[in-house]
Amino acid sequence: HSLLALAHEMPKTELHLHIEGTFEPELMFSIAKRNSVPLKYQTVEELKSAYQFENLQDFLDLYYQGMSVLLKEQDFYDLTMAYLERVHRDNVVHVEIFFDPQGHTSRNVSFETQINGIYRALKDGESKFGMTFKLIMSFLRHLSEEDAFKTLEQAKPYLDWIDGVGLDSSEVGNPPLNFKNVFEECKKLGLAVTAHAGEEGPPEYVWQAIDTIKVDRIDHGNRALEEADLIAAIKSRGLTLTVCPLSNLKLCVVSDMKNHPIRTMLKFGLNATVNSDDPAYFGGYMNDNYTALIQGSGISKIELYTLACNSFNGSWLNSEQKSKHL
Ligand code: HPA
Ligand code: ZN
Repeated sequence: HSLLALAHEMPKTELHLHIEGTFEPELMFSIAKRNSVPLKYQTVEELKSAYQFENLQDFLDLYYQGMSVLLKEQDFYDLTMAYLERVHRDNVVHVEIFFDPQGHTSRNVSFETQINGIYRALKDGESKFGMTFKLIMSFLRHLSEEDAFKTLEQAKPYLDWIDGVGLDSSEVGNPPLNFKNVFEECKKLGLAVTAHAGEEGPPEYVWQAIDTIKVDRIDHGNRALEEADLIAAIKSRGLTLTVCPLSNLKLCVVSDMKNHPIRTMLKFGLNATVNSDDPAYFGGYMNDNYTALIQGSGISKIELYTLACNSFNGSWLNSEQKSKHL
């Protein structure tokens, strides 16, 4: 099928990817074994059969459980390298990946251990595949702003390696407003800023991300479509939306791929992009997300092309770096 071939072969970037969400069950079992960490599930099949979610929290419970076997620098390296090798085959040429430091420091795995492993893999991926990267540290919004400030302190020796900050985890009840001060500090340090908003949370949270956090990008943003003036604000500011089709389906943010809002976003002139979020949990990597859109939503060739262009335009690469990829 020519649309599939086009989508799979075109160069693209991935802008919304949690590295802990790329933890494939096979790798999880092998790292659990070498670290002598017991898993709640006996087999890969048993674990996979638990990947049925009714909402974001159902997923997050398993996501935090899964990442708990990551203890050593090499674990973070292996996790990251497996992802880069995988998406290199999908013709992803640039990645901007999140990691969740608090998901590990809370288990006494140091910030240093995490970032050393992740960063070394990103550098190796760059020399092996020519794949460029940005690293985004994400604050867990179910924890306090004080805890986010502590994490920022731990990050300070590594700011040369960190390009941006994000906000993720349980959205409803944890509005962006709660993190106003820490993001202000991040901006002062020269970090780019993004936040998950409007995945499950109301349009008001998207407004807060824009007006209070002053984001450079919005992760998900689905529920922004509920308000015309919010759509206009996103458009006038030229903000990119990092949309995640298979994630939305798996977490019941959308009921069916034929109802997925990404084409509506494009019709409104919003800079929507395609991303995989947590591919090991949601049934697919970058090209699987394009496949799902092609098979489920009736997306056109020009829309596919626009999505790939948006993925470069919405990235934090400078124009010289972008042109090298195109
Ligand atoms: N939403 C919020 N937090 C997350 C997600 C997500 O899709 N993936 C990993 N942490
Ligand atoms: Zn996400």
